[in-house]
Amino acid sequence: MMEKLFLFTALMISTCCAVTQDLSGKVFVFPKETNTDHVKLLTTRSTFYNVTVCLRFLTDLNRDYSLFSMSTPTVENAFLIYGEPANHVFHVNSGSGPTFHAVPFPQNTWHSLCSTWGHGSGVAQIWLNGKPYVKKFVTNQPISGKPISILGQEQDSYGGRFDTAQSFVGMISDVHMWDQVLTPTEIKSYMNHKHVTPGNVFNWRSLQYEITGQVLVDDAPDDM
Ligand SMILES: *[C@@H]1O[C@H](CO)[C@@H](O)[C@H](O)[C@H]1NC(C)=O
Repeated sequence: MMEKLFLFTALMISTCCAVTQDLSGKVFVFPKETNTDHVKLLTTRSTFYNVTVCLRFLTDLNRDYSLFSMSTPTVENAFLIYGEPANHVFHVNSGSGPTFHAVPFPQNTWHSLCSTWGHGSGVAQIWLNGKPYVKKFVTNQPISGKPISILGQEQDSYGGRFDTAQSFVGMISDVHMWDQVLTPTEIKSYMNHKHVTPGNVFNWRSLQYEITGQVLVDDAPDDM
């Protein structure tokens, strides 16, 4: 009886403990399609005028999915990276944001992705596997207010309203976020797995995060 009660309690508590870890050589594995399971990335920072987010990912999904979802109390897609592999399309800030067409990202291949945005020009850019794509206007408004940043789900409200059909299933690694637009040289370094100054908002080598549901921390595969 006690054992059953314990198991039940353990299953109910699916969000556990913020941790700070060096995740070098590791990946987050999102093993199932849900509208719940995710990783929340934690930072004390709250206003951004310039942004670069880089990450690597592997998936066999052919439907749409969110790769990085940051919302603020006033803007649900404050910084969103969203892929539509079937259409070879990336969105940065889905909804009002621009669409980047003809960006190929086939399934079952590791991809290195960076997205930049700066409030001065208001322009965002996607980089994929060493190649820069066009620059498109998003907004001149800085990102302000306490952000909620999520891997694995797309926020349709501040910290919630996830949609199974936009969830991520696969692996994500080497997530960094900077409050600057990195130079092309720095982005290429990241994409070539060379040294780059770690993110000062999110740093994979000292990542503060919280897992909800089933997301595993696993060794990175050799071919990443
Ligand atoms: C944002 O980037 C622009 C262009 O590089 C720079 O002039 C500006 O100082 C940056 N703003 C902040 C707050 O870092």
